[in-house]
Amino acid sequence: MQTLPGFRDFLPNDCATRNYIFACWREVARRYGFVEWDGPVLEPTELYKKKSGPEIVAQLFNFTDKGEREVAMRPELTPTLARVIAGHEREFKKPLKWFSIPQCFRYEKQQRGRLREHFQLNCDIIGEASLEADIELIALNIDLLRQFDLTENDFVVRISDREFWLDFLRDQKVTEDRWEEILQIIDKSERESREKTAERLGALAEPVFAILEGGGKSEKLDQLVGGLEKRGLGGYVKIDLGIVRGLAYYTGVVFEAFDRAGKLRALSGGGRYDNLIAQLSDGAASMPAAGFAMGDVVLSDLIAEIPTARGKKETAVGAGQQLDVYVVIAKEERRGDALAQIQKLRDNGYRVDFPLVPAKVGKQFQTAESLGARVTVLFGDEWPQAKVKSFATREEGLIPNENVLAAVRQILAS
Ligand code: HAM
Repeated sequence: MQTLPGFRDFLPNDCATRNYIFACWREVARRYGFVEWDGPVLEPTELYKKKSGPEIVAQLFNFTDKGEREVAMRPELTPTLARVIAGHEREFKKPLKWFSIPQCFRYEKQQRGRLREHFQLNCDIIGEASLEADIELIALNIDLLRQFDLTENDFVVRISDREFWLDFLRDQKVTEDRWEEILQIIDKSERESREKTAERLGALAEPVFAILEGGGKSEKLDQLVGGLEKRGLGGYVKIDLGIVRGLAYYTGVVFEAFDRAGKLRALSGGGRYDNLIAQLSDGAASMPAAGFAMGDVVLSDLIAEIPTARGKKETAVGAGQQLDVYVVIAKEERRGDALAQIQKLRDNGYRVDFPLVPAKVGKQFQTAESLGARVTVLFGDEWPQAKVKSFATREEGLIPNENVLAAVRQILAS
């Protein structure tokens, strides 16, 4: 039996890596004043049909449940957030800064950086229309990546503004019903041939290519970059009007982070969605909002490619898995005394393991080493003393049983 395509098993090392990523995400999000929340994994399919856009609806893992309800595994968190905010609008002081780490499900073609399940950190600011919120979010996106020891040589955040394109479409007298379609063609243009994009854009091809290649003037984006420069983060961003984002609900500034080498898919993406809360609540609540999500899959690939980032991850993963103490039971008559000491050490917060069944002393030391134990405590002929040994210094000494905890504490603190 194999996993389904695009789904992962998380063996202990993979889990440790995942925990490392989540811990870095949580730490930086909290540093920016964000608080954690979550929603359900399963939602009414309707929630995504309303506003996420055709691409994500085509990728839904959806089915009819036993109560004849049309339901879908969440492909993203933003519609859930909009629903929750609309339902609890009066309970919180604005602006809200909320983060969450949902597992999301999309029936995508499995390829490098794209699976059928992934975890994503979502960070959203609700109830603040000013550009300062967009700047705060992009700064947070940058600092999240820096937390993994990634630098401006490793990634770049490409920033754009959907309003720039909407002004352009108005100027070109394109009717509103075609706007979303054209934005999606521009979004795909980087991954499609120029001929195909030109064919789909028709008469708009020439002016669109002129902007994509020559750039365009946007005071708002200049101001945004200025705000990031004040924080010393200017080197991490680039104005790039080719970014419009695939999701249909974005209304203003949009951005995506990529590896500098341009080998991988997007690390993160987001933007402003000022109308979504009103649209999903049929006008019952209305609030400006902006946010982004960063996935674990592409991020893990980039960390694996950058030696400093990989080193930091390996150190953290190693430290997280290391045992503090391995208790060696050299004489089975001492098992009861050993277990009492083990309990005491564990009660004091130490990570302790021991042989569940009788084993040769040499084998027990091998096990201690393979588990990365920093201290061994041997119970045998020396009782009521125990032999305490530091793995780092190889020093050992006979310690009265009642002083073992203090001796272990001293070694681990040094
Ligand atoms: P998104 O661009 O669809 O945005 O996804 C955000 C990130 O999730 C991507 O940049 C990528 O790293 C990761 N991701 C997406 N799909 C997959 C996949 N199939 N496999 C692996 N990783 C994937 C959103 O989801 C928006 N809801 C973000 C947002 C939050 N906008 C405002 N607030």
